[in-house]
Amino acid sequence: MQRRGDYGYDAPYALLIFGAVGAALAIAAAASWWARGPARTTAWLAVYAAFALGNAASFFYTTRAGKFAVWNEILDALRLRGDERALDLGCGRGAVLNMVAGRLSKGRITGIDLWSTHDQSGNSSDVTANNASLEGVADRVTIETGDMRELPFPAGTFDLVVSSLAIHNISGAAERAKAVSEAWRVLAPGGRLAIADIRATRRYARTLRELGASGVARRNLGWRFWYGNPFASTSLVTASKPAGGAVA
Ligand SMILES: C[S@@+](CC[C@H](N)C(=O)[O-])C[C@H]1O[C@@H](n2cnc3c(N)ncnc32)[C@H](O)[C@@H]1O
Repeated sequence: MQRRGDYGYDAPYALLIFGAVGAALAIAAAASWWARGPARTTAWLAVYAAFALGNAASFFYTTRAGKFAVWNEILDALRLRGDERALDLGCGRGAVLNMVAGRLSKGRITGIDLWSTHDQSGNSSDVTANNASLEGVADRVTIETGDMRELPFPAGTFDLVVSSLAIHNISGAAERAKAVSEAWRVLAPGGRLAIADIRATRRYARTLRELGASGVARRNLGWRFWYGNPFASTSLVTASKPAGGAVA
């Protein structure tokens, strides 16, 4: 799985804070040891430093490598035909967008985003378009600017809707439910949905059940998708729209 694009860093300020706090605590622990400070203080500073630096290392690994490895497995398990019309909600610089596009022969994928650089470093539609070109999938990718709570697509447009670490960025459970409902609305009968996120995934699953989704499942994606520690782990929600159902 060779990547040619540059996909930046998720939540770059969180990573910087983990790193800076870890470094400061490590320096404080070293200074305490050097000055022959109380052994207990030195030991606790060292423990906190190790914890913060461990969080930074896990976060770095996930955003640069782990999430790609896990999404590769998720997409393999979906066994795409290659002719799907797909949508990536909050596509950012195109990590998942381009992995789906690479599995499409006749199909197409649209990525929609508001390009928040707080949520992903260097985020912009130009960077995403350039990454699609670098990966050799630009002919299968469309990039749109828009809010996933109000998708500019008719009901039933897509056979597959994916989203990675994006919906939790919306404040308020009711607003996040709007994004999930929109994902459902634009899904065609028989279509499938895969949402990976670090928070609120139980709520996404409940919303999908209420909307009439079938086969709603939720599972933890493991240490390769931790943003620092197990409390910031990512879960995947998958569901389908019954084939005989109404479009909206
Ligand atoms: C952490 S990034 C993840 C990007 C990409 N899915 C990935 O896995 O690399 C979260 C993305 O969600 C986008 N986003 C946040 N709120 C949004 C909204 N209401 N509508 C569309 N995109 C949104 C941000 O701009 C950002 O690109």
